[in-house]
Amino acid sequence: MKPCSTTRRPDDMKILFSAARIRRRLDRLAEEIAHHVSNRELIIVAILKGSYVFLADLSRSLARQDIHVIVDFLGISSYGSGTTSSGKVRIRHDLSIPLKGKPVLLLDDILDTGLTLRHATDLLRRRGAHNIRTCVLLDKPARRRIPIEADHVGFTVADTFVVGYGLDYNNRYRHLPHIAELRAGSKPAVRTGT
Ligand code: PRP
Repeated sequence: MKPCSTTRRPDDMKILFSAARIRRRLDRLAEEIAHHVSNRELIIVAILKGSYVFLADLSRSLARQDIHVIVDFLGISSYGSGTTSSGKVRIRHDLSIPLKGKPVLLLDDILDTGLTLRHATDLLRRRGAHNIRTCVLLDKPARRRIPIEADHVGFTVADTFVVGYGLDYNNRYRHLPHIAELRAGSKPAVRTGT
């Protein structure tokens, strides 16, 4: 598949959420999140790689709510077996700041089977974080394998393959300012991340 730019997109994409709509939703999300922040300071742990665009824009929305954001990153891959959360997890990039006793917002671009968010939450808990809240830009409940929900959700989507705004297909399309559905014909059987 040829790479595309922000001004030219392939015919097999349908925009689901425009850049303007995402911006508006993020401002509302920041208001929601701010209600749960006690001292105007918030540690956000973002799961690599897909959440980097979401993190950048959400942290600016939070700054407009007078919230000072401290960011850290967690690279984690989970590949589950069946319907349990006992699948193997590999840490590709570990945390760099101490979280003991700190409230943390765990951020991801999409909540799909739920395995990544579950393993990341468990890891933060083991590292001593307290009051862990979760926030995902997209929630795809039809794909869930374990019972888990995020505390804050940008948009709920159907079981289609989505790209853009950090989400990739074969490491492409992450740069798109909108979120689009990659339509049948080019839709892969599984998400191919890193
Ligand atoms: C995607 C996405 C989430 C995870 C969600 O990551 O960014 O982190 O899958 O899936 P789950 O709920 O089924 O666990 P991916 O492995 O594609 O890596 P990437 O973010 O580096 O592209």
